[in-house]
Amino acid sequence: MSPIVYYILHLGALFVLTGYTFYAFAAPPETRKRVMMITGIASLLAAVGGFGLQAKMNYGFPVWMIVKIVCWLGLSALAGMAYRKRDKAGLLMTITIVLLLVALVMVYHTRLSA
Ligand code: HEM
Repeated sequence: MSPIVYYILHLGALFVLTGYTFYAFAAPPETRKRVMMITGIASLLAAVGGFGLQAKMNYGFPVWMIVKIVCWLGLSALAGMAYRKRDKAGLLMTITIVLLLVALVMVYHTRLSA
C-alpha cells in the first residue's frame, strides 16, 4: 500500500482519537460504550498507519519511535480514565495535551534536524 494511505490513516485516526478523548471528559455516562468503541478503533487504525509508515520507510525502532509508541499507549488509555475519574479531568486533559505534543516533537524534531 502507498505511504499516502498510511499517512492519512495515521493522522485521520489520531484526529478522531483526540476529539473523542476530549469529548469523553464531558460526555454523559451513557455514551461510554460508544465512545470506548470509537476510540478503540481509532487507536488501532492510528497504530496500523504508524507501523505501516515505519515499515515503508525502514525506520526500525529508533528512540523517537519508542517514545511515540509510549505516547500512543497513554492516549489510548485516556478516554476510559476520563469516564472513571471525572474529578481528575483537569489533570488528565493536561496529560492528553502533553502526550500529543511530545509525539509531535518526536516526528518533526527528528525530521527537521536530520
Ligand atoms: C504506535 C505509535 C506510533 C507510531 C508507530 C508512529 C509512527 C510514525 C511514522 C513512522 C511516521 C512517519 C515519519 C516520517 O514521515 O518521517 C509518523 C508520522 C507522524 N505521526 Fe506518528 N506514530 C505513532 C503515534 C503517533 C502519535 C500518538 C501522534 C500524535 C501526535 C503521531 C503524530 C504523527 C504526525 C503528526 C506525523 C507526521 C505526518 C506528516 O508529516 O505528514 N504519531 N508516525
